[in-house]
Amino acid sequence: MNRYSNMVYNYCGRSGLKLPAISLGLWHNFGTVDVFSNMQEMARTAFDLGITHFDLANNYGPTPGSAEENFGKILRSTLHGHRDELIISTKAGYGMWPGPYGDGGSRKYLLASLDQSLKRMGLDYVDIFYSHRFDPNTPLEETMGALDSAVKQGKALYVGVSNYNAEQTRRAYEILKKMGTPLLINQPCYNMLNRWIEPELVPTLEELGVGSISFSPLAQGQLTDRYLKGIPSDSRAAKPWGFLKEKDITPEKIEMISKLNDIAKGRGQTLAEMAVVWNLKRGHLTSVLVGASRPEQIRDNVAALEKREFSDDELAAIDKVLAGK
Ligand SMILES: NC(=O)c1ccc[n+]([C@@H]2O[C@H](COP(=O)([O-])OP(=O)(O)OC[C@H]3O[C@@H](n4cnc5c(N)ncnc54)[C@H](OP(=O)(O)O)[C@@H]3O)[C@@H](O)[C@H]2O)c1
Repeated sequence: MNRYSNMVYNYCGRSGLKLPAISLGLWHNFGTVDVFSNMQEMARTAFDLGITHFDLANNYGPTPGSAEENFGKILRSTLHGHRDELIISTKAGYGMWPGPYGDGGSRKYLLASLDQSLKRMGLDYVDIFYSHRFDPNTPLEETMGALDSAVKQGKALYVGVSNYNAEQTRRAYEILKKMGTPLLINQPCYNMLNRWIEPELVPTLEELGVGSISFSPLAQGQLTDRYLKGIPSDSRAAKPWGFLKEKDITPEKIEMISKLNDIAKGRGQTLAEMAVVWNLKRGHLTSVLVGASRPEQIRDNVAALEKREFSDDELAAIDKVLAGK
């Protein structure tokens, strides 16, 4: 098994931890509404292609928590015996259980949620524990203190923040540094349709030596050939529980995506492949966190690494399409 020979592994910021250039997220397609044998096959396909990092959160499903439960079953079956070859992350920050302690950034919520996540996955520890979002109503010292405690209690090896802007990230980094726990990584949304991280967050992460992993790099499937001929019934936009809605797939967007698809074809790639490597290059990322509904999509996304370089003309052509020109 040459599992590790074709994947690219990048150091996560200035840490000693390497992440695969492509990681797999379990936000969609790993819940109670999905087929377990397909999840097993996706996990096996990913791992066999060198994807060592699987990303979860307390609320992934639906139902919330079920992605962690299903991943726990995968760890005991398909991935059995490989725990030390895997980087498993989870998060807390969005609404998870009723009442005042199941949402936000309090110490009470984060540490109780981490215990629940470990139980659902059947783990003693996760590799990365994230604050899923900045909570303006909780002192950042409290939220970061909870992450630091998770590490000191041996329940997480590293900590991260997600959806934090440049200034919030810098403050989180400084607070954690004083506590003796480095900030490993930030997980922002980043893709061709959402480039908010480029002006401030990317240079800040580089300056601080913090790693980065982009979520929704394919804009939930929009930056693929999935919607070029309408909305397939098995697609995320067609599913009632999917986060992407049919109304998001506008004719203007399809026109733009068709032009991007032509540029990808000219490179000998699928649009998904081009979007993945564009993400790595323009976002200066440690890893690109893709989602998938079937094993073929994972194979396609990993194949992207075979052609990582862009000419200046290609980058300019992509920018022109994205600017609506
Ligand atoms: N931190 C946060 O707040 C946050 C928020 C969102 C996501 N995330 C993380 O990021 C991960 C990825 O997000 P995402 O699922 O939105 O990512 P994405 O990669 O942008 O979208 C995944 C979807 O794109 C389609 N797809 C993937 N590969 C394809 C291919 N090669 N060809 C055609 N279609 C393809 C599939 O759609 P179909 O299902 O229609 O086939 C798949 O479900 C999540 O699982 C989660 O771990 C984090």
